[in-house]
Amino acid sequence: MFITIEGPEGSGKTTAVDYAVNKLLEMNYQIVRTREPGGTPIAEQIRNVILDKSNIAMDKRTEALLYAASRRQHLVEKIWPALKEGKIVICDRYLDSSLAYQGGARELGIDNVLNVNLFATEGTFPDLTLLFDLDPEIGLERIKANADREVNRLDLEKLEFHKKVRNTFLELAKRYPERYVIIDASKDRWAVAEATLNAILARL
Ligand code: TYD
Repeated sequence: MFITIEGPEGSGKTTAVDYAVNKLLEMNYQIVRTREPGGTPIAEQIRNVILDKSNIAMDKRTEALLYAASRRQHLVEKIWPALKEGKIVICDRYLDSSLAYQGGARELGIDNVLNVNLFATEGTFPDLTLLFDLDPEIGLERIKANADREVNRLDLEKLEFHKKVRNTFLELAKRYPERYVIIDASKDRWAVAEATLNAILARL
């Protein structure tokens, strides 16, 4: 079972997934929790290049290729082995982030970015994708209020960019209804956490 967590900055996905993972561990499920971009030493090095605020010259296709490269390494070293062992892999962001951010918001085109990612992933799609849906204005406010969270290169994009990200995610949910579940991330954090756990349990 391969579960991915998607949605904008400030949607509370980390808190909700922490809660769900703890509950699932109590139920004796074997879980591997990981994140993108990163998840292994090589993938983390690629992550640092992508998110470095000083890399203002980065071309958008370079950005898309780096995310795909990081994803590939993460699959090979961590996700595929865990799935082979029968574990449940819960990954914070995956392929759909590339489709939404690079394909939609950077306007490279969903299908162009999908093609690069089909090469990188050899067609490994999640079984379940939880989309934490939130108005980006609320998300950006929440990020500003959270002093602990480091601001990255993509956070610095304008509101328009984040609106495009949201709309592309909603489009993807329509395109892949069999694996998408939308979580209303405007609700309070405990309601969001419960909804997350229930969506995973329903699929297990
Ligand atoms: P991160 O600090 O992990 O953000 P978050 O806590 O919101 O998940 O930074 C990841 C950033 O990279 C985030 O702004 C989304 C973006 N991103 C892409 O643009 N494309 C991708 O394929 C992935 C995985 C992430």
